[in-house]
Amino acid sequence: MEGLIDITDNEFKQISALVYEKFGIHLTEKKRVLVRGRLNKLLRQMGYTDFESYYNAVLNDPSGAGLLELVDKISTNHTYFFREKDHFEFLEKRVLPQIAQQLEAEGSKDLRVWCAGCATGEEAYTLAIVLAEFFGPNYFSEGPPILATDISRTALEKATLGAYGKERVDQVPRGLLHKYFTLNEAGGYSVKESLKKMVLYKRLNFKRESFPFRKKFHTVFCRNVMIYFDQPTKETLVQKFGGVLADRGYLFIGHSETLGRDNRDFQYVQPALYMKKVAE
Ligand SMILES: C[S@@+](CC[C@H](N)C(=O)[O-])C[C@H]1O[C@@H](n2cnc3c(N)ncnc32)[C@H](O)[C@@H]1O
Repeated sequence: MEGLIDITDNEFKQISALVYEKFGIHLTEKKRVLVRGRLNKLLRQMGYTDFESYYNAVLNDPSGAGLLELVDKISTNHTYFFREKDHFEFLEKRVLPQIAQQLEAEGSKDLRVWCAGCATGEEAYTLAIVLAEFFGPNYFSEGPPILATDISRTALEKATLGAYGKERVDQVPRGLLHKYFTLNEAGGYSVKESLKKMVLYKRLNFKRESFPFRKKFHTVFCRNVMIYFDQPTKETLVQKFGGVLADRGYLFIGHSETLGRDNRDFQYVQPALYMKKVAE
């Protein structure tokens, strides 16, 4: 077996600058071994013997497919059902009752949740379970209440498929597992059609100038995504979330992340949870 293709200082700098510019992902020196490892197989498959040639090919590929493949390899898609589960309890007990009341007053059923950085779909389907349990399965006949987006095409393909290994569904309470999943031929679990119908998956890059939504969201989940960004990228993103959330809408972030307590657009509620301030 051939050895690993090595990455020089300059090659690592070039690749990390490109990934930062296009996707906001901040690859520190610590990620060097990871980048080299994750890209080695791809380089070989494409017939390159050094990172410089691969970098130039990605740069000069007008279709953008090379960039897509690069971010697919670089991004970390780790996730599982009911991750950081106190968020889902808060959603069920505190957020959904408020939204239900508001929708009823408006005579509307247009509940809008954005699962931003959904990876392979576990978080979006967890949200779907919580919503279905609260509102009942027939409430959302007018369209899916959850928009789930990610930059990674392969992650989105897996999300759309909705088939998971046992370890990913470990945290799903038994009753809900039987209600919303079927055992599949691979010995894992597939989400039922009733859940799939509640989620619309789309590819979206957080780095884009503005977000393309006509209506505001009641709630945004963007968890364990901003850990990969530096401070300026994070601040710009949080400001854009402020622009797409309804007044008093909630922003859930990962438990190892923070916006600080004096954010211009958001009021601190509890760790990893913020509320959009009412516009003056
Ligand atoms: C670790 S996963 C988080 C999954 C889930 N939210 C959770 O908390 O379990 C981070 C996701 O952010 C996505 N991501 C990273 N940079 C992105 C960007 N610029 N635009 C959109 N998604 C991005 C990655 O593709 C990855 O799927």
